[in-house]
Amino acid sequence: MSKILVFLALFVFVGYAVAEILPTPNGIDLPINYKNWKVISSSHRLDNKTLRIILGNEVAIEASRTGKTKSWPEGTILGKLVWKDAIHPKWQTAIVPGKFVHAEFMFKDSIKYKETGGWGFARWVGSEQKPYGKDATFVQECFNCHTPVKDNDYVFTHPITLP
Ligand code: HEC
Repeated sequence: MSKILVFLALFVFVGYAVAEILPTPNGIDLPINYKNWKVISSSHRLDNKTLRIILGNEVAIEASRTGKTKSWPEGTILGKLVWKDAIHPKWQTAIVPGKFVHAEFMFKDSIKYKETGGWGFARWVGSEQKPYGKDATFVQECFNCHTPVKDNDYVFTHPITLP
């Protein structure tokens, strides 16, 4: 009986360990509630054939709906979820989200992330949500590519216009 209990406990423990999502090498934790965030915009990349939705936490949504995004307020978190293009099985010209690629985020904290434009960058890859980056220097890659939009607070996305 006790052997079964030990086995069961071990099973639960291993289950938890596997399910745990690790922080990125620059020490950022996955904002676990991101799946319930609201939409700021969407995009489609023709070069690598992916669909994206751009989401935000409450601070970000408030700012995006009231046009206060220059610059984005402290505490903003912007999220981007990326899927490979797929074709709708019943409608060949409809492109729909296929395989999940990654989730990535930008955390606004002007003091903490002073070196990278006031944004902390983080990405988790695949449905297993594996933290991206060999070490903390991976953020240079993100920051460099976001530098062309420096005058838009390093953010590419323009919030959608709503009726
Ligand atoms: C090769 C260029 C490039 C690199 C590298 C890059 N980004 Fe971006 N990123 C973009 C572009 C272009 C957009 C806007 C278009 C889109 O939706 O994909 C964007 C959008 C975003 C957004 C939505 C907010 C916004 O700026 O529009 C987040 C969040 C984001 N990127 C995070 C990251 C993180 C984290 C990294 C590094 C792990 C990273 N990016 C690396 C080009 C890049």
